[in-house]
Amino acid sequence: MDKILVHGGNGLAGSIKISGSKNSALPILAATLLTREPCTIHRVPDLSDTHYMLQILMHLGAQVERASGTVTVTAEKTDSVAPYDVVRKMRASVCVLGPLLGRCKEATVALPGGCVIGDRPIDLHLKGFEALGAAMRVQGGDVKVFAPKLNGAVINLRGKFGPTVLGTDNVMMAAVLAEGTTVIEGAAAEPEVCDLADFLNKMGAKIEGAGTRRLIIEGVKELHGAEHDIIPDRIEAGTFLVAGAIAGKGVTINRAEPQHLTAITNALTGCGFKIEAKKNSLTVLPNGVAKPLELETEPYPGFPTDMQAQMCALLSTTDGISVVTENVFPQRYMHVAELKRMGANMQLEGSTAVIQGVHRLTGAPVMASDLRASAALVLAGLKAEGITEVSRVYHIDRGYEHLDEKLSELGAHIERVKE
Ligand code: EPU
Repeated sequence: MDKILVHGGNGLAGSIKISGSKNSALPILAATLLTREPCTIHRVPDLSDTHYMLQILMHLGAQVERASGTVTVTAEKTDSVAPYDVVRKMRASVCVLGPLLGRCKEATVALPGGCVIGDRPIDLHLKGFEALGAAMRVQGGDVKVFAPKLNGAVINLRGKFGPTVLGTDNVMMAAVLAEGTTVIEGAAAEPEVCDLADFLNKMGAKIEGAGTRRLIIEGVKELHGAEHDIIPDRIEAGTFLVAGAIAGKGVTINRAEPQHLTAITNALTGCGFKIEAKKNSLTVLPNGVAKPLELETEPYPGFPTDMQAQMCALLSTTDGISVVTENVFPQRYMHVAELKRMGANMQLEGSTAVIQGVHRLTGAPVMASDLRASAALVLAGLKAEGITEVSRVYHIDRGYEHLDEKLSELGAHIERVKE
C-alpha cells in the first residue's frame, strides 16, 4: 500500500490541466451497455474507479479497448448479472442496474454496502424502476429487478436529502428504452447528469430537461453507438483551486468548465481570494488575510458535498470562526478528527462543523478514510509545518488522476512511498 508524504511550506504556482470527470465517466461507461454497437468515450480519467467499471463491463461480456484516455466499449451481448466480487470495490457499480434493466429487462447486481460517508441507500433508484413496471427481489445480498416490459411513468425521485444523482442516472438509463414517455420530477441537475443525458441523446435517446428538476424521456426502440467527450472534473478543479487558496502564489487550472464551478469560486471569493476566469481556465490568486465563511452543502447548483472536506482544510487556518453545514451526507466528517490531529480547532455539532481558524497546522501521520477526506488531508499538509504522512492512498487513486504528480508540477514537495 502506498502513502503520500507532504512536506509543508512550499508555495504553489503555475498551471495544471483538469482531467475528465470521474462521476460523469462512471455512468457513461455503464450506459454503453444499452447498445450492441461500439461506443467511443474520450477523456476517461485513469483512476481505479474507472478501471473497476471497465472490469464490470468486461465481466458482463463487453469488449473493451483502452488507449490513453479513449475507451471503446462494444457490448454486442451482455449478461445481466454483476456479482459481489466484481461490484463490491465500488459503490457506483450500482449504475449498471438501469442500463441492464433497459436492455435485458432484468438485472441482478450485488447491493452496495455501507460507506464511511453515510448509509447510502438505493431506495429511490428502486422506486423509479418500480414505477416503470419492474418487480424486485433482494436475495443473498443481491438485488434483482425484472420486468416483462418497461412502461413510461411519472416518477418523483426527490428524497429526504434532496435529489439523487446516480438514482436519476439509473432511472433515466432504464427509461430511454421504455415504451411511452417518462417524466422524472425532483431530478438531479448536476452537470454529470447532463453529460450522461447528452451521451444518451447521441445514442438516439430522446431526453429533454437535463440540468433542470424535470426530465422528460420519450422511450425509443433501440439505441446505437456514439462518440463522446467526458466533461472536465469540477471536483478535481475545485480541489486544485482550494490548494491554490491554501498554499498558492497564483495557481491556474486549465481545461476546466468555469460555469460548473460557480458555487466553489463564490465560496473562495467570499473568503477574500481573487479569482480570474477565462473561457476554460480559472486562476486563484493569493489574498492579504483570508476571511472566515458560513457554508452549506447543497445539490447542484449549490456548494457540492464533494468539496466540503477540502473547504474545511482551508478554513482550518483562516482567522475567525467558520461554520460549515453538510446537508447532502450529514455524517460526512471523517476528515475532522484527522485535521484535529494536525492542530485544527473544529467541533462537530450534528451535521455542522464549527471551525476556529488556527495560525498553524503541524504535519502528522493521518489516515485517509474516503476520497475527498483524503484530498483534504493532502491540502492541509501543503500548509502544515513539517511532514504530513497520508496513508491509505488508494482512496485518492479512486478519484484523482495523478494528484501527487499534478501538485508536484505546481511546486509542492510531495512524494509517494510504499508503506
Ligand atoms: N439517497 C437516498 N436514497 C437513494 C439514493 C440516495 O436516500 O436511493 C440519499 C443519499 O443517502 C444522500 C442523498 O440522497 O443523502 C444524495 O445522494 P446521491 O444519490 O445523490 O449520491 P450518489 O448518486 O450515490 C453521487 C456521487 C457522489 C456525490 C453525490 C452527491 C457518483 C459516482 N457519486 O453519489 O460522489 O457525493 O452524488 O453529489 O457520481 C465522490 O465523488 O467522492 C462522491 C461520493
